[in-house]
Amino acid sequence: MSTTTDAAPPAAVRTGEARPAAQQPTWPDASALRAAVDTLATYPPLVFAGECDVLKTRMAAAARGEAFVLQGGDCAETFENATADNIKNRVKTILQMAAVLTYGASVPVVKVGRMAGQYAKPRSSDTETRDGVTLPAYRGDMVNDYAFTAEARRPDPQRLVRGYHASSATLNLVRAFTQGGFADLRYVHDWNKGFVANAANARYEKIARDIDKAMKFMAACGADFEAMKTTEFFAAHEALLLDYERPLVRIDSRTGELYDTSAHFIWVGERTRDLDGAHIDFVAKVRNPVGVKVSAGADIDDVLRMIDVIDPAREPGRLTFITRMGAGKIRDALPPIVERVTASGAQVTWICDPMHGNTFSSASGYKTRDFDDVVAEVRGFFDVHQALGTVPGGIHVELTGNDVTECIGGSEKILDADLANNYESVCDPRLNHQQSLELAFLVAEMLSRD
Ligand code: PEP
Ligand code: CO
Repeated sequence: MSTTTDAAPPAAVRTGEARPAAQQPTWPDASALRAAVDTLATYPPLVFAGECDVLKTRMAAAARGEAFVLQGGDCAETFENATADNIKNRVKTILQMAAVLTYGASVPVVKVGRMAGQYAKPRSSDTETRDGVTLPAYRGDMVNDYAFTAEARRPDPQRLVRGYHASSATLNLVRAFTQGGFADLRYVHDWNKGFVANAANARYEKIARDIDKAMKFMAACGADFEAMKTTEFFAAHEALLLDYERPLVRIDSRTGELYDTSAHFIWVGERTRDLDGAHIDFVAKVRNPVGVKVSAGADIDDVLRMIDVIDPAREPGRLTFITRMGAGKIRDALPPIVERVTASGAQVTWICDPMHGNTFSSASGYKTRDFDDVVAEVRGFFDVHQALGTVPGGIHVELTGNDVTECIGGSEKILDADLANNYESVCDPRLNHQQSLELAFLVAEMLSRD
């Protein structure tokens, strides 16, 4: 790709320093912070502007119904878990889901990992108290450590630099997996055959058999399987920590435009999407495709203003609304928002995050989600868009490729009592490998219904 993205923009362009930035850590050592930010500013970009532009065209296709977006990965990545096996399992899970969704949607699936940078978390409180001891809240590995000690919880700007290196190593492996033969559609399909061979998943056998037939048909026609050995894969995370995102902004040498080179796609979360705040200002100034989370409580006028601020030129693929309303609310809360946005003439990409509106504390005290609620929210999303004649453009899911027990339900019937067996998330509960695949089969059914 001929696009280099090397030059760091002048500090003033690094956007919006004067605006209030919610959810930032209180760094105890200003000179250590400055040193870390200066170091990041000298590092090479993690992604290229040209790649971000390609993703923008893919997001635009999804807005028109000519592609379907799958975004997935951990709620919070951790340095400790950035291992080859964990990364491989997550990529594998996303590829498996994408194969099923491609069949269901009959359009290309745009694969986006919620990874290689998902190291910072918004928190409801700045501090956490346990047994009378109050410490800074855990804000993600790029800020502090999860362990509940004063030393671990002290925000350390060196972690920003470590976050860059962990992201770089992750992205390197993701690129190797998706370009080096591991993503071969024939392997991916074989893995899915393993999933439906499990008696608990028998109801998905028919789709798997239909995919098998389609693969054999393609082979008989002499389809170019060589071309299916590799796949596009993009990286995304919440652009939360401005001391990480700002120094990774670079000027695209082709166009002079600014890109956040920490990821192809970045989004602003529900808690930081204040129109006058630093996060919206930041994403408005870079040219990446960007997302904004939208809850059931969102003010519709704010949502419309967001379009004017982030996407004044109405550029296809530029802006995605990731709705996260809750299974019980989406059918009432989503239609007026979609209607007003559509009536405004804007064409945004609509993605359903069926996770963040469905979190609750289980009787045994774990933060969890019920697989049925996740499915119900996606179903509500599809039904609303079908009723309005608008396009359900994709899903955004917290998932892992491992066999964790964090969300209840699914064909393995994980119960509250099972959560303690293998609950590993340091933040929100993720679908495990099986639950993720099951969701993909169910969404494929919803997609093929249209
Ligand atoms: C998240 O995606 O992990 C998150 C914090 O989401 P939201 O901003 O929608 O609450
Ligand atoms: Co989360």
